[in-house]
Amino acid sequence: MTHAREVRQIRILDLFKQDRGRVDRFSCEAAGLYLDVSKQQATRRTLRLLFKLAQARRLPNAIRRLFSGEAVNSTENRAALHMALRSPPGTFMPVAGRNVVPEVLDVLARMERFAESVRNGEWRGYSGESITDVVNIGIGGSDLGPRMVCQALAAYAGTLRVHFVANLDGTCLSDLFRQLTPSRTLFIITSKTFTTQETLSNAATARRWVVAAGGEAAVGRHFVAVSVNAVEVQRFGIPAKHTFTFWDWVGGRYSLWSAVGLPVVLAVGMSRFRELLSGAHAMDEHFRAAPLPKNMPVLLGLLGAWNTNFLNYTSQVVVPYAQRLEHFVDWLGQLEMESNGKSVDLDGRAVNYTTTPVLWGGVGTSAQHAFFQLLHQGPAVHPVDFILVIEPAHELADQHRLLLAHGLAQASALLRGKDLVTVQRELAPTGLQQPSADVLARSRVLPGNRPSNTLLLPRLDPYHLGALLALYEHRTYVQSVLWHVNAFDQFGVELGKQMAQRGLQVLEEPSVHAGAGGEDLDPSLQRLAARIRRLQKH
Ligand code: F6P
Repeated sequence: MTHAREVRQIRILDLFKQDRGRVDRFSCEAAGLYLDVSKQQATRRTLRLLFKLAQARRLPNAIRRLFSGEAVNSTENRAALHMALRSPPGTFMPVAGRNVVPEVLDVLARMERFAESVRNGEWRGYSGESITDVVNIGIGGSDLGPRMVCQALAAYAGTLRVHFVANLDGTCLSDLFRQLTPSRTLFIITSKTFTTQETLSNAATARRWVVAAGGEAAVGRHFVAVSVNAVEVQRFGIPAKHTFTFWDWVGGRYSLWSAVGLPVVLAVGMSRFRELLSGAHAMDEHFRAAPLPKNMPVLLGLLGAWNTNFLNYTSQVVVPYAQRLEHFVDWLGQLEMESNGKSVDLDGRAVNYTTTPVLWGGVGTSAQHAFFQLLHQGPAVHPVDFILVIEPAHELADQHRLLLAHGLAQASALLRGKDLVTVQRELAPTGLQQPSADVLARSRVLPGNRPSNTLLLPRLDPYHLGALLALYEHRTYVQSVLWHVNAFDQFGVELGKQMAQRGLQVLEEPSVHAGAGGEDLDPSLQRLAARIRRLQKH
């Protein structure tokens, strides 16, 4: 902590003056990506201390354990081997000593056959017509990943229209039904557990919609499932031949590489999906082999922990300067905050330090007109990850150059700020009189010295997108090791789910005053439910 106190007094700009080699030292390349962390409030000694911390937390061993299929998800006694999903033929990726890559490849082959039959019109609906629209029904990791990747790779999409329904809000399906024709719509019910209430409610509604149009027999032509739970899928009425499985050693928020990625294959084809897998695999190999000082996920993770635990910055902002990455922050939010939003460590002890900060953001340049005022002049510091794509997927080269200029400029503006002397010099010609001149000048000062990373992707193509996503998956794991928490369970979401059932009863039965365990329902819930009941039209 002594070092942190010293570093807080340092102007990052001075570090560039003191060390001409800073940018080289504080950057690295992997899987075609380039990461510049030189604008972080960190010295070379900071990095040395962080690498010592990583060693003290046995990070290299933790990385080895992850790739060897050990039960790193200790509370559920499971491996977390999402890297196996993108491992090429011939790779050995063991779970409980058994290589799982062959079965991964089998599922990929089934996905390819199925997707091609839908994309080329062979797959027919109950009326004998081909499919024009696919609707993925799923939530959390069964939605955010494929939704984000389909949007990011829109430049590669074919004619099949792919839609996503996640929220329990009937608006989602109701709006979609107005656009779709039952006979030409295929539903993918994606749920690892196949017990998630939102997904099953939406699935049941979709089922009724199809049956109303094509009869019970239509279900077999208009529904496929992606799940670990074959029994519940069968109970819903989807046969095994239309079920794409994945495994309990794949966490929901790490599952887009599995059959959960089926909407992506339907949208852009299997060859592009394989490129996505290939980019992620390249990042896996880098993570596994690169020495800590030039290991991209390790650098990102360590400096993130430095900002959170030593400089006490309470949030992390991510701003992709790419409109097609508009869902990226949503996906990353679940990845980071559902993985490391924990306060009990692997030994069952309450942690006495911060774990993951709040992660938020938006796309640039729009975000500059939304929350960048806070980033530049707010009292708190919010470190930013800028993500820039060098080559556009469109012909408007001039606009793209301007977009990149904004991204670079914002990072520099956060670094430099604008001091009082500079502001006063700028205001002098206005001839403004005191005291308003002084107030105005002080209101226009930007403190600067605000840290950021800049990540460069050559293009927003499947390969580099895969590398980007795997980079953040491994950053999340690195930080879980530093914080000694389990990145792969999510018990915190269970209570809300349980109480939702009680909430429903309170809304439906005025007499209900106690919870499932006999506990009193809080008066607020009771009053709100009573008011809703009284004011509801039907
Ligand atoms: O948010 C809780 C959670 O269990 C996530 O981890 C998961 O991605 C999501 O709900 C959906 O779960 P399932 O894929 O089992 O429907």
